[in-house]
Amino acid sequence: LVTHVILTGGVGSRLWPLSRKSQPKQYLDIFEGKSLFEMTVDRNRNIADKVMVVGNIDNCHLSKAVLEKSNTSYIDIIESTPRNTAAAIAFASFASNEDDILLVTPSDHIIGEIERYEEAIQEAIEKASHGAIVTFGIVPTKPETGYGYIERNGDNVLSFREKPNQVTARDFIAKGNFLWNSGMFCFKAGVFLEELKMYAPKVFETAKLAWENNDEGNLDLALSLDIPSISIDYAVMERSKKIKVVGSQFEWSDLGSFESVYDYLKTIGHPVDENGNMVIGTKNYTAFIGVQDTIFVHTDTANLILKKEFSQDVKSVYSALERAK
Ligand code: GDD
Ligand code: MG
Repeated sequence: LVTHVILTGGVGSRLWPLSRKSQPKQYLDIFEGKSLFEMTVDRNRNIADKVMVVGNIDNCHLSKAVLEKSNTSYIDIIESTPRNTAAAIAFASFASNEDDILLVTPSDHIIGEIERYEEAIQEAIEKASHGAIVTFGIVPTKPETGYGYIERNGDNVLSFREKPNQVTARDFIAKGNFLWNSGMFCFKAGVFLEELKMYAPKVFETAKLAWENNDEGNLDLALSLDIPSISIDYAVMERSKKIKVVGSQFEWSDLGSFESVYDYLKTIGHPVDENGNMVIGTKNYTAFIGVQDTIFVHTDTANLILKKEFSQDVKSVYSALERAK
């Protein structure tokens, strides 16, 4: 039995002001009239027997609207507060049988060449059924610091390093046997829980306690606040010896930052001026003078002017605004 676990708890703070707490990026109808969340559900329909959504109290109604529209039955896990992906995936695992295979995906990626995608997933399911924790490796194109890096030898993983600095990322790319971690994972629920218990016991224990006290999939706030906030990448992927990689040939874009949105929009023909400047969110004529590689983002209530290379810093604006509330 294969369960598609959709992680949809992030607010997408690096895409502020397009993405808001009340309307995170995965629910915006900005691409081809469908949201990224809806595209994620559709893409895995033929693969999975079951759908499980791990989201939060602020956005569960948005997931529900999409899934009900297409009559998709699903299991809903509703976090009262985000505790990051190690815990989110632990809840999905606790809600499953230990031999169920979980295909865990984010809800904010653009994926093309769907046949190749399905092939990669089938290969991963096969490896997962033999006890591996499977990652999907993407051929890197630049020393991106927002991703995890997989050092590989065939399908064996020699090391996993989450979000290295620029110098290290450059070094990895120069070595030639490193792939980006796509952020999707495939494993048996029981295997993941064993690894979590071994390498991040505090997350395991606190998430287990929170799960055991869930109320129809709703997690209690006080118990959740005890769970260390750490991603699966740091908690398990950097440490486990059971990691395998499927080298992926499909088209993949993580629309995690404005830099990747810029790259993606460029490939689909969105206008960029001769100095590499781009406008997002308005058809108003916009002039850039004396600036290069700058993105102007317009929404009804906020604007952002961003030098592309600082895309990872947008999060700090979002955090400052949250603190000021
Ligand atoms: N339910 C839930 N709860 N979901 C969450 C939470 C949470 O607390 N935090 C994040 N998510 C969801 C996000 O909405 C997203 O769909 C997914 O989990 C991954 O979280 P991100 O915050 O987007 O992670 P990242 O982009 O920094 O890094 C991950 O993805 C990269 C590729 O896109 C890592 O796996 C990297 O190694 C990888 O390269
Ligand atoms: Mg991301």
